[in-house]
Amino acid sequence: MALIPGILPPSRATWELVTTCFKFFPLVTAAQWITAWYPSGKTSYDSPLNLPGKWAWTVMESPTILIMAYTMYALPTELHISSLPWANWTMAGLYILHYIYRAWLSALLLNPSMSPIHLFVAAGAFTFNTCNALSIGGWLAGYGPTTVHDWAGRLYTIEIGLVLWGWSFMGNIFHDDDLREIRRSALRRQREQAEKEGKPIEGVEKLYMIPKNGLFRYILFPHYLCEWFEWAAFWMIGGLGCTPARTFLVNEVSTMLPRAIQGRQWYVEKFGAERVGNRKAVIPGLL
Ligand SMILES: NC(=O)c1ccc[n+]([C@@H]2O[C@H](COP(=O)([O-])OP(=O)(O)OC[C@H]3O[C@@H](n4cnc5c(N)ncnc54)[C@H](OP(=O)(O)O)[C@@H]3O)[C@@H](O)[C@H]2O)c1
Repeated sequence: MALIPGILPPSRATWELVTTCFKFFPLVTAAQWITAWYPSGKTSYDSPLNLPGKWAWTVMESPTILIMAYTMYALPTELHISSLPWANWTMAGLYILHYIYRAWLSALLLNPSMSPIHLFVAAGAFTFNTCNALSIGGWLAGYGPTTVHDWAGRLYTIEIGLVLWGWSFMGNIFHDDDLREIRRSALRRQREQAEKEGKPIEGVEKLYMIPKNGLFRYILFPHYLCEWFEWAAFWMIGGLGCTPARTFLVNEVSTMLPRAIQGRQWYVEKFGAERVGNRKAVIPGLL
């Protein structure tokens, strides 16, 4: 039985509509090129419409896991598909694995603190994630390849894509964690001082430093770059005909590129051009 008839799991008409409309998402995010207003993360500010960062992040990213898992479970039955090829399950598994890290582990367990997120940003991210999970989930669960013959001749590309995906995912986690370490180490220092000198623990909300390890030596947003490689590899696994994976990659870059460029400007204003040095925003030596 469908959870929401026609929508969850998506009917073909719903899936086609979402997949088509989602291609135009870069027209929405293009607004970021003309305004630096982004009430989240480094550029968050006090507002009655702010939501607590960690919980907002978890709620806005969770549709990815829930929609993908439910669509993979329910759609094949609705379409009378007895079993899906392993490649479909592998792609769904990669997607869910990434978002378990991003939505649950990263936000709730690993990040020492997260700035508040404005309702507007949270609603935009929730919509993005819902459309994306419906689009990719629908393709994987019945509206894309459904037999091993549909994947024929693609084994080596899939294998290379999987290796690339794995390294990029690790790169994304490594650089996310380098940012976390800035606040974790500050918190350790504060605790030591509290024990030795009885100083109060101030907390690490909104504490920023210039990260220096890994690709942070060359760019200020290597976690973004690694994530782009991750979803480029995902598209490679799905193949050129996997429109939902291509749309996802294009939409991510169009959303995150202006963020990274404005983020570099933020670092220059906060720490000075000299301390930022030759580091680019997101593409070493270029951008
Ligand atoms: N933003 C997007 O549109 C988007 C889209 C898709 C995927 N992602 C992925 O989600 C992850 C997080 O993205 P994001 O945009 O939130 O990244 P971000 O702005 O770099 O922030 C990541 C985390 O690190 C903290 N942080 C950032 N810079 C810091 C610094 N210089 N010193 C100390 N702590 C610092 C942030 O704290 P505060 O919250 O307090 O600033 C936040 O908790 C990335 O891996 C990215 O690839 C982001």
